[in-house]
Amino acid sequence: MDHYVIKGGNPLVGEVEIAGAKNAALAILSASIMASQPVTIENVPDVSDIRAIVGAIEQIGGEVSHPDRHTYVINGAHIKDEPVDNEAVRKIRGSYYLIGALLGKYSKAVVALPGGCNIGLRPIDQHIKGFRALGASVRVCPPGLVEAKADHLVGSHIYMDVVSVGATINIIMAATLAKGNTIIENAAKEPHVVDLANFLNSMGAHIRGAGTDIIRIKGVDHLHGTEYSIIPDQIEAGTFMYAAAATKGDVTITNVIPKHLECLTAKLIEIGCEVIESDDSVRVVAKRRLDHTNVKTLPYPGFPTDMQPQISVLLGLSKGTSIVTESIFENRFKYIDELAKMGGMVHVEGNTAIIEGVDHYTGANVKAPDLRAGAALVSAALSAQGYSEVYDIHYVERGYEDFPEKLRSLGGCIAKVSNSDEERKAVNSFNMRVVG
Ligand code: EPZ
Repeated sequence: MDHYVIKGGNPLVGEVEIAGAKNAALAILSASIMASQPVTIENVPDVSDIRAIVGAIEQIGGEVSHPDRHTYVINGAHIKDEPVDNEAVRKIRGSYYLIGALLGKYSKAVVALPGGCNIGLRPIDQHIKGFRALGASVRVCPPGLVEAKADHLVGSHIYMDVVSVGATINIIMAATLAKGNTIIENAAKEPHVVDLANFLNSMGAHIRGAGTDIIRIKGVDHLHGTEYSIIPDQIEAGTFMYAAAATKGDVTITNVIPKHLECLTAKLIEIGCEVIESDDSVRVVAKRRLDHTNVKTLPYPGFPTDMQPQISVLLGLSKGTSIVTESIFENRFKYIDELAKMGGMVHVEGNTAIIEGVDHYTGANVKAPDLRAGAALVSAALSAQGYSEVYDIHYVERGYEDFPEKLRSLGGCIAKVSNSDEERKAVNSFNMRVVG
């Protein structure tokens, strides 16, 4: 079984380049089928969630070429009228973006209910509310398919009951080709909402206000082709920033938009890290054991839920007691039991983790319960004394391109192995290197 073997103790040092944002790419690849001409999308990360959405687009007749590792050319001119449903689609969350894209373009979508990391209930009632407000009838029918259809969509005034990234993006897509004007109030403001709106505008859409909580859309007749480059991944960048701090390292993270990282940077500075920003990079230097703090996850520009496991691992090594409150997803502390195997001292009560900082973690065999928690456990293992094995790494591979390779380039002792021979070789190679 594929797993990472890790020898902890090396501070991460050096420079690492960040890939395109997975969650922006999932939305933008889906939206690309709304154009009547081919669309070129660059800076797409090479991760398994992206391969799943591209497979779904191909399955329904999208013509896809892949001229280099990070570029896709998609022609959605010949989409077939058939359900979007296969095993890969049912495993990812981002497949729900095909509902908004197909409904927007063809006034009809039949798409398997989305899967994704098991981090909470993850209902789609706000997506459905938005589609209905635009005039669609929506029902969930066997075997777990969402069917949305309309004679034609008509612009509407929609107030979101909860701030939802996915629902905001889905409603933007559906409203783009609707007749008349749509206003979305209490919209999500995440960078990937803005990226999706910029992408659609580059194809001729008329979307204003993305990045604020009121988005206004004037429906247009059609969307033309474009060339577009996806923004850098805020969460991948944050994961490396926090891994640098956890290993008392010195890492420059390049190809980032520092503005998107502000709340992550602020927390690092608050607990005693040095963070040096330039136009498109941030350098994180942690020379000493860090201080404690409290954190609550919130919609953007608040502290992202996708960085909650990473900051908890870091605070688990800090001086004193920290409190982390998860306010977005109710089931996002499953990794705490795994961290306890490494000596983490965390007590969870409801949506709050009370973290007593320890001097160091100790290597252990652990399982990744989801994508971000998996990455956080890897950073715990890199900081730990001794060896760790991290299993269920298919979660990590959903969202991090070349994760072990990038960490190795920073001096981390980590290898992906699938059997005991490979594991022995990896351990020997670690032992040839100087640790400390
Ligand atoms: C997106 O999920 C991301 N996924 C998640 O990233 C991320 O954690 C999340 O946004 C929050 O930032 C993708 O972009 C594919 P939401 P999404 O709708 O859209 C509630 C990762 O690790 N809600 O913003 O599913 C919901 O239960 C992943 O990359 C409703 O009640 O999240 C949650 O409490 C994991 N009804 C809150 O809103 C709805 O119809 C925010 O969820 C929709 C959501």
